[in-house]
Amino acid sequence: MSRSKENSPLLGGESLSCYNSKKDKKKVYLSYLLNVVTLSLLAYFFLIPSSHNHDNKNGGSSGAPPHVDQSKKKNIIMMVTDGMGPASMSAARSFRQFRDGLAINDVLTLDKYLIGSSRTRSSSSLVTDSAAGATAFSCALKSYNGAIGVRPDSSPCGTILEALKLQGYLTGLVVTTRITDATPAAFSSHVDFRSQEDMIAQHQLGEYPLGRMVDLILGGGRCHFYPSGVAGGCRADKRNLIEEAQRNGTWSYVGDRASFDQLDGGHNVSLPLLGLLADTDIPYDIDRDSTEHPSLAEQVKVALTALSKATENSEQGFFLLIEGSRIDHAGHHNDPAAQVREVLAYDAAFAEVIKFIDESDVDTVAISTSDHETGGLVTARQVSEEYPDYLWYPEVLNNSKHSGDFLAQKIYKAKISDEKKLHKFVTKEILEADMGITNYTEDEVKSVVENASNPAKLLYVLNNILSLRAQIGWTTHGHSAVDVNIYAYTNSERLNAKLHSKEPYVGLAGNHENIEIGAFMESISTADLHKVTELIQDTEHSPKKKDSLTADEFHANAVQY
Ligand SMILES: *[C@@H]1O[C@H](CO)[C@@H](O)[C@H](O)[C@H]1NC(C)=O
Ligand SMILES: *[C@@H]1O[C@H](CO)[C@@H](O)[C@H](O)[C@H]1NC(C)=O
Ligand SMILES: *[C@@H]1O[C@H](CO)[C@@H](O)[C@H](O)[C@H]1NC(C)=O
Ligand SMILES: *[C@@H]1O[C@H](CO)[C@@H](O)[C@H](O)[C@H]1NC(C)=O
Ligand SMILES: *[C@@H]1O[C@H](CO)[C@@H](O)[C@H](O)[C@H]1NC(C)=O
Ligand SMILES: [Zn+2]
Repeated sequence: MSRSKENSPLLGGESLSCYNSKKDKKKVYLSYLLNVVTLSLLAYFFLIPSSHNHDNKNGGSSGAPPHVDQSKKKNIIMMVTDGMGPASMSAARSFRQFRDGLAINDVLTLDKYLIGSSRTRSSSSLVTDSAAGATAFSCALKSYNGAIGVRPDSSPCGTILEALKLQGYLTGLVVTTRITDATPAAFSSHVDFRSQEDMIAQHQLGEYPLGRMVDLILGGGRCHFYPSGVAGGCRADKRNLIEEAQRNGTWSYVGDRASFDQLDGGHNVSLPLLGLLADTDIPYDIDRDSTEHPSLAEQVKVALTALSKATENSEQGFFLLIEGSRIDHAGHHNDPAAQVREVLAYDAAFAEVIKFIDESDVDTVAISTSDHETGGLVTARQVSEEYPDYLWYPEVLNNSKHSGDFLAQKIYKAKISDEKKLHKFVTKEILEADMGITNYTEDEVKSVVENASNPAKLLYVLNNILSLRAQIGWTTHGHSAVDVNIYAYTNSERLNAKLHSKEPYVGLAGNHENIEIGAFMESISTADLHKVTELIQDTEHSPKKKDSLTADEFHANAVQY
């Protein structure tokens, strides 16, 4: 690809593929620094319109923006479907209709709350990563791919979680990935690059200028709380944060299904609660053993009950971030069978939120959107030279009992060296019994057998065998730039009127920049992001020298998810 082709006028000449090019790292880093300055200015101006945008020029709904009492007690629930584009919704909806024999008009719960769409680009690329995507929601500003709660110049930016906590709200994070992963991290920590997960864990527990800002944590990710000597641990230092947090008497801790169950659906929670239910990610819903790991909906129920109980007699309610984190992973893996189940698990969690809102007498608003699409998923695929058929096969996804990731690990761990035995294992056990595929070709079996010792490759091979039969297409193992949907619901008439305004920086109906979602949450509350930004400038946020990773290496790491 020529340089000129990579240069986009939209990005002021910045190379779009800068973080992938290994050749001219220095040049790229310089151009990155230069652009940081330009983009800081741009981001600044993006933020300004909130104060002078009341004149309704852009074809939004008519009349003055509805007045919302910012100081009135409310609950704000931010929900993120990581990596879910419109095609994921369509696939999951059709899959469920097929599986459960439902009518054409039987839609997902989310479908009933669609109000708009979000443009997702970051300050450094038209294709965002989750870090910049979540920072757009949390700080209401555009930053670079890899940025966790920091501005384009990598200085910390106040987040909506922190701002609301400082106003007396209780706060929570509920995810299915590592709690130190990009989305939850961007609300609760400040680091230059998403790969600094050791430092993210420290910030999340309160080791930074503001002290502890999070009251409830539920998700995976013990890894960056345990030292690498401890089973499942991966901290570079010797600290055991889980032990420290308990010994300090600051956090109550749950680390397995049995102690999660003792939370009694949220009625027996002592805040602050640190719930880390897996070393890394909680398994895909399609693979999940419910005796070992709770569903996202169960986690959400605990969080909603605990936070609403704890704020019953307070002046302020709570802020809760909920993420369907692994829709994104299924996209990266190009795994349609896992993804439709992830979307359905999220939809069940969303239904819990709707139920909560309907039953709550506190003004509560939930906004659900994605940071970006992952996989370039399409529910159609040309599988032969001939004119393509207009169809795709949800039954193929229903026939598969596990994720490609799970099956790749199963083959890898079986460590069968005898070729004949391996062939039989792959055909009978994996393809037929687990994936429900009987008409595999010898070439397909060969590509599985050949990759048996390489689970990373294996999972792509298996997922492609399945996707091909389902006639589901993928264009990338990374992210795409398509607009993503915004869903929202509230029990407050005024909030509802504001939410449904199309006006930029007023409502979220119609098409919006992702940063407007953060700005919306700020505008309905007494949160002051700029003030928080001033308070956290002394936060340690850059990688330590001794880590000896260059900025480019961090970036290379960062674009992965
Ligand atoms: C979907 O899969 C389930 C579980 O294997 C099976 O019981 C059910 O019959 C399948 N549904 C359809 C419509 O084929
Ligand atoms: C525990 O307390 C010590 C001493 O006050 C403090 O330095 C440390 O950050 C605390 N650790 C955690 C995980 O809260
Ligand atoms: C509540 O939690 C405590 C531990 O914090 C546990 O000992 C107790 O059994 C729990 N109660 C219920 C009803 O699960
Ligand atoms: C396997 O069977 C399915 C339908 O049962 C069909 O759509 C597909 O084309 C077949 N694939 C091969 C490689 O024969
Ligand atoms: C692994 O799978 C790929 C993709 O199907 C195939 O091209 C390759 O030959 C297989 N074997 C190895 C050892 O990579
Ligand atoms: Zn993401």
